[in-house]
Amino acid sequence: MLGFLLYLLLTLLFSCWIFPSRAYRKLKKNGFVGPIPSFPMGNIREMTNNRKLFIYWLGAEPFLYVADPEFLRKMSSGVVGKSWGIVKVFKNNREPMFGSGMVMVEGDDWVRHRHVITPAFSPSHLKAMASLMVEPATNMLDKWATLINSGKPEIDVEREITTTMGEITAVTSFGLSYRDGSSGSRLFEKLQAVQDTLFNSNRYEGVPFSKWMCPKKTLEAKRLGKEIDQLLISIIDARKSCWDGSSPRNDLLGLMMNGDGQAGMSLSTTELVGECKTFFFSGYETTALALSWTLLLLAMYPDWQNQLRDEVRQLFGDGQINFEKLTDLIKMEWVLKEVLRLYSPAPNTQRQAREDIKVDDLVIPNGTNIWIDIVSMHHDPTLWGDDVNDFRPDRFKDDNLYGGCKHKMGYLPFGFGGKMCIGRNLTLMEYKVVLTLMLTRFSFSLSPSYRHSPAFMFSLRPKYGLPLLVERL
Ligand code: HEM
Ligand SMILES: *[C@@H]1O[C@H](CO)[C@@H](O)[C@H](O)[C@H]1NC(C)=O
Ligand SMILES: *[C@@H]1O[C@H](CO)[C@@H](O)[C@H](O)[C@H]1NC(C)=O
Repeated sequence: MLGFLLYLLLTLLFSCWIFPSRAYRKLKKNGFVGPIPSFPMGNIREMTNNRKLFIYWLGAEPFLYVADPEFLRKMSSGVVGKSWGIVKVFKNNREPMFGSGMVMVEGDDWVRHRHVITPAFSPSHLKAMASLMVEPATNMLDKWATLINSGKPEIDVEREITTTMGEITAVTSFGLSYRDGSSGSRLFEKLQAVQDTLFNSNRYEGVPFSKWMCPKKTLEAKRLGKEIDQLLISIIDARKSCWDGSSPRNDLLGLMMNGDGQAGMSLSTTELVGECKTFFFSGYETTALALSWTLLLLAMYPDWQNQLRDEVRQLFGDGQINFEKLTDLIKMEWVLKEVLRLYSPAPNTQRQAREDIKVDDLVIPNGTNIWIDIVSMHHDPTLWGDDVNDFRPDRFKDDNLYGGCKHKMGYLPFGFGGKMCIGRNLTLMEYKVVLTLMLTRFSFSLSPSYRHSPAFMFSLRPKYGLPLLVERL
């Protein structure tokens, strides 16, 4: 008993004080400064600070905070994707969501995952996936039409779009429609439940023993994670046993399994399960938020709403979407880029140094956690000018890649370097298909009950939902 107490005391001492302050002293010695952390919450409350480079504490974990594109360029110029580490505190908490997927592995394992998966996202495969998106989106729009007909024109578009993007993501990731019957809808519910469970306890990431501040949630997430794995394993097994390999399925799972065969370059069943979960969780909420914020901005700026609708009509008339022509939706692409700038669905990304990294006369010590504040660079007037907070999609007209940002590392909606988002072209396609369908059938205006309050920590979302007034055209 005494031994156990002593062990507990020592663990507490080390995880809350000795390890963190050693890492902090090392950073400080190397010239980095930051606000004094309070125990045990760290600087979670001060994270929206205005400085571009400082140390802050997420609970008992020191992070080097970076929102300076030039520092970021220098820091990452000599480091390839496989040489970055993953932040340990996040890794442990997110296991039920990402399993052994690509966002959880490092070094040569990461190279192998990325190598097997990249071909699945090739333009020809993506084109084949486009048709899978039409049905779930059309179902949602039919439901809207029914709601409007029954005298309820106010629709919480965020909630609707999030559900539909979940369905689209489940279909494109592992060919599973929630209408497929019981196993499909069960898997879908569990995936959403695990996300809710982890999201609600995320606020304490980095705080020592935070897992045990909400033990019920932690255990619940673990249990759900296991059940999801079982369901995915049965899908994979079924495909392995009754599939001759001659006609690969068009979803990401099928394409990954088809990549089997190259020596040393394949994924185990556990890894496939991890990737399926990773695609689902990285894909559906981010794209849903991009679409939701877009509808809000188009409701606020009717001129842009009309311009996009005209562009769609010119391309497709009143007929069906021609997937070959999606690349011609040029204005729609500017709007997406401007939305990703203003309301980045992935407002930050993290790295861990795996070696000492020299930046001018500073050294980032091996093991340092680095927090890259993407959204704050997107709102930096020194990079974008005085109209930084205005919705101006045409800034991408003259500068398609960087929107006129003064620094090439100042606009990073999909991250940077070798670890840049693998799903960005898939997102672009989903966005265009779904938004085209919405604009051809409905128009959108603000609802008086909308309260603007983007809340952000791990994604940037409308805190009170996004009710809009929807009208049939
Ligand atoms: C608007 C939509 C999306 C946004 C804003 C977004 C943003 C990001 C960001 C910022 C990163 C981190 C990159 C870095 O650290 O440098 C990332 C990574 C990743 N994203 Fe996305 N993403 C989106 C959609 C998707 C979709 C649809 C998928 C998959 C089907 C996806 C799969 C991934 C994966 C697997 C990674 C990890 C890549 C790696 O570690 O090598 N994302 N994404
Ligand atoms: C960085 O630290 C890790 C863990 O302490 C160690 O295994 C690794 O060898 C170090 N890397 C370098 C380049 O020193
Ligand atoms: C996305 O598409 C562009 C243009 O077709 C291509 O250059 C790029 O490599 C693609 N990116 C990914 C991650 O597949």
